[in-house]
Amino acid sequence: MPRQIHLAAHFPGVNNTTVWSDPRSGSQIDFASFVHLARTAERAKFDFFFLAEGLRLRELKGRIHDLDVAGRPESLTVLSALAAVTTRLGLAATVNSTFNEPYEVARRLASLDHLSGGRAAWNVVTSYDAFTGENFRRGGFLDEADRYTRAAEFLQTARELWDSWTDRDLLADPAAGQFVREGAGEFAHHGRHFDIHGRFATPRGPQGHPVIIQAGDSEEGREFAARDADVIFSRHSTLEDGRAFYKDVKSRLAKYGRRSEDLKILPAVTYVLGDTDADAAERAAEIRRAQVSPQTAIAFLEAVWGRDLSGYDPDGPLPDVEPDLGEGVSKGRAQFRGDRAATVRQWRALAGERGLSIRDLAIETTARQTFVGTARTVADRIDEFVQTDAADGFIFVPHLTPGGLDDLAEHVVPLLQEKGVFRADYTGPTLRDHLGLGPARTAEETS
Ligand SMILES: Cc1cc2nc3c(=O)[nH]c(=O)nc-3n(C[C@H](O)[C@H](O)[C@H](O)COP(=O)(O)O)c2cc1C
Repeated sequence: MPRQIHLAAHFPGVNNTTVWSDPRSGSQIDFASFVHLARTAERAKFDFFFLAEGLRLRELKGRIHDLDVAGRPESLTVLSALAAVTTRLGLAATVNSTFNEPYEVARRLASLDHLSGGRAAWNVVTSYDAFTGENFRRGGFLDEADRYTRAAEFLQTARELWDSWTDRDLLADPAAGQFVREGAGEFAHHGRHFDIHGRFATPRGPQGHPVIIQAGDSEEGREFAARDADVIFSRHSTLEDGRAFYKDVKSRLAKYGRRSEDLKILPAVTYVLGDTDADAAERAAEIRRAQVSPQTAIAFLEAVWGRDLSGYDPDGPLPDVEPDLGEGVSKGRAQFRGDRAATVRQWRALAGERGLSIRDLAIETTARQTFVGTARTVADRIDEFVQTDAADGFIFVPHLTPGGLDDLAEHVVPLLQEKGVFRADYTGPTLRDHLGLGPARTAEETS
C-alpha cells in the first residue's frame, strides 16, 4: 500500500500569504469565517485545523505593521467554539511556552480535548523576545538560549499534570458516596523553571495528552521535536529542501527510542489551481503580485536594510545605500533573523542578473506558491513529495479567507482518494487516530 498522506488546514493570516484586499476575502475574526474553513477541511477529511498565534501586533519603524493581516482572536477560545460545530476534525492551537504557565495551559488543553472528544493538539512555540515580553507581567525575562530548556520542562510538566489523573479516577459511585478517587490529580514538579505541587483540576482527556506539534528550525528546535513532538510544522516546502530536512529530523528519532512514523513532518504549503497548467501559472503570478503590494515590497526591504526606504520607487532598482546593521526596524513576527549584510549582497546580485525591481525581488523571494497546476498536476505532485520522503503531508495555507480551500477540497482531494493515498473517511474519533499515532507517551516515558 502506498504511503498515506496527512493533510491539515491553516487559517490564513500574516506573512503576506493572505490577500486581504481581494474582494472575495472575508473577516479574520467573525466566527463564520472559522466555521467555513473548518467545515471545508472536515468535509475533505483533513487531519486537523491549525491556528497560529501572535502575542503582540508587529511593528515596523515603530508603527503597527499592518500590510498583511493584523489582529487575531485567541486560539483555544476559537477552537473550543469550533469543537461544537465539527465532529472529527483535529483542532490545533499554537500556545507559547515562554509567556505562559504549565498548569494553566495543561488545564485548557485537557478541557479542549474533553469538549472535542479527543481532537486537541498543541503547537508549542518558543518566541522569547523582549518586545513580546513587554505585554506580560514578567516582561522579556528569558534568554534565547533558555527558551527550549523552558519549553522542554514546560511540556514535561504539562505531561505530569495530564498523568496526575488516571482513567479510573472518576468513580461517581453513589453507593460509596464517593465521586473522585482519593489521590486523583496529585502532582509535584520540582525543576529549574517550574517548582509546583498540588492537585490538578481537570481529569485526563480522551487522548491522554493532546497531539504535540513543534514549529522551529534551529538545532535545539529539531532535537526538541525529535524527542517530544508528534508533528513538525516546517517551512521546508520544496522537494529538495524538504528531503534534506526530513532526513535530518527522522535520523534524530532513534536515539530517543522512537520510530520514523512516530513524528509526522508537515511543511506549510500553498497552491493555485487552473484548467491547464499554463492557466494556473498565470493565476499564480497574479496572486504573487497581489500578495506583495508596492508598500509590502518596501517594508520587506526595510526589515533587512534596517532603515527607512520609503523614498525609493518599488518599481525601480534596489536601494544604493548600505544596510544599517544595528538593531533593525521591525519587531515581532516580521523580524528578519538571517545575516542581513549577506542577504543584501545576494539580492543585489540576483536583481542585477535578472533585471529585477524592488517589487519583483520581493515577489521572487517571499511569495512563491508550492503547488501550481491542474488538479491532476497538483495531486500528483503532493503524492510525489510524500512517496519520496520530502514530507508526510502538508499544512495548507490558503491565500483567501475563508473560501481558500474550497477548490482543493473539491478537485484535488478526490484525486488523492482515487490514487489510494488519502483516506475516504475518518477511521477513528481522535486526532491521534487520524495521524496514525499510538497512545500518548506518559510523563514517565518521556522524562
Ligand atoms: C512554520 C512555522 C510556524 C510558526 N508559527 C508560529 C506562531 O504561530 N507563533 C509564534 O509565536 N511562533 C511561531 N513560529 C516560531 C517558532 O516557534 C520559533 O520561535 C521560531 O521558529 C524560532 O525557533 P528556531 O530558532 O528553533 O527556529 C513558527 C515557526 C515555524 C517554522
